[in-house]
Amino acid sequence: MSKKLTVAVVGATGAVGREMLKTLHEREFPATEVRAFASARSAGIKVPFGERELTVEELKEDVFEGIDLAIFSAGGAASQKFSPHAAHAGCVVVDNSAAWRMDERCPLVVPEVNAGALNGHNGIIANPNCSTIQMVVALKPLHDAAKIKRVVVSTYQAVSGTGQKGIEELERQVRDLFNGRDPENNTYPYRIAFNCLPHIDVFLENDYTKEEMKMVHETVKIFNDPSVKVTATCVRVPVFYCHAESVNIETEKKMSARDARVMLSQAPGVRVFDNPRELMYPMPGYCVGDDFTFVGRIREDETIENGLNMWIVADNVRKGAALNAVQIAEELVQRELVRVTDKDIFMS
Ligand code: A2P
Repeated sequence: MSKKLTVAVVGATGAVGREMLKTLHEREFPATEVRAFASARSAGIKVPFGERELTVEELKEDVFEGIDLAIFSAGGAASQKFSPHAAHAGCVVVDNSAAWRMDERCPLVVPEVNAGALNGHNGIIANPNCSTIQMVVALKPLHDAAKIKRVVVSTYQAVSGTGQKGIEELERQVRDLFNGRDPENNTYPYRIAFNCLPHIDVFLENDYTKEEMKMVHETVKIFNDPSVKVTATCVRVPVFYCHAESVNIETEKKMSARDARVMLSQAPGVRVFDNPRELMYPMPGYCVGDDFTFVGRIREDETIENGLNMWIVADNVRKGAALNAVQIAEELVQRELVRVTDKDIFMS
C-alpha cells in the first residue's frame, strides 16, 4: 500500500457499525489505519476488527483532523451534528443515516446502480435506506430494459433495522413470553414478538410513514428519474436479520417473467433464486450474512398489460447498510475521490 489512508467508523458499537468493521476487514479495504468512534458512554471499550480489537474513542467535533474517510452509522442527529465538521477537516463522509439523503449537495449512492453520482461529491455521501437499496439493485436492470412506470412495494423488515435495541427487544420479548412474563414494549409501540407492525419510523401528514416515503423519494433520486412512481407499505416483522419485499412493477415495454429472470441473473449484486417446482425462493432466514440481493417468485402480473411480481430479500445490515457503505468507500478510493474540494459547504 503506497498512500496513507486513515478510515474511521462512527457508531462502531452499534449493530451496523460492528458490521462495517467486519466488512472493511473481510474485503481487505486498503486502509493504513482504522479507528472506531461512538458516544462518550462507550469510550475505552473494545470492538473487534478481524483478529484485533480497536479501542473506541469518543466522537467530538475536532477528531477528524488526519482522518481521510469516515463511515457513519450513529443515527441522524449525530450525523447532522458531526458530518459537517468531518468535511470541514477534509474528511469524506459516507453516512448511513437519513440526515443527508435528500440534500441536493449529497449524492445518494448504490454502487451497482449509480456509482457515477460520486463524481463531483462535496464531502458527504449518503447511503440509502436499507429497503430502498435492495429494491433498486433488483429493479435497475428491469428499468433500463423496459422502463418502470410504477412500483407497488410491501416490505417485511427485520428488527435489526432499528439497531441493537430492536434486536434486544425481540429477544427479550420472546424470552418473556416463553417464561410466562408480560413483555415490555420499550423500542416499538406494540409487542414485536409473534406480531407484525405496519409502522416503521414516524407517521407523516399524508398518513404514510417516513420509511414509506423514503422508498418513494430515494428511488427517484437514485434512478435520477422523476417519472418512476413508487407507493410503499412498510411492515416490521419478528425476524432478526434480512428484509423481504413483495414488489409489483408496471413497465412501459412488455417483459416476460423469463426475460426478467435472464436479465436479473446477469445483473451485478443480484442472485436469482426462483424455481417454484423445486420450492426455491429466497427467505430471510437463509440469506443472513450474504452480500447478494436475492430475487425469486418472478411472475407476470395477469391483471395488467405489462407487469411483473417478484420477491426480493437481502441482509439489511450488510447490503442494506454496512456493505453498501463500504462499497461506496471502495468506489471513492478507486476513483481517487477521497478528497473534499469545498470544505465549508456544509458549515453554514
Ligand atoms: P453508543 O453505543 O456509545 O451509544 P445502534 O443503531 O445499533 O443503536 O447504534 C448506534 C451507534 O451510534 C452506537 O455506536 C452509538 O454509540 C452511536 N451513537 C449514537 N449517538 C451518538 C452520538 N451522539 N455520538 C457518537 N456516537 C453516537
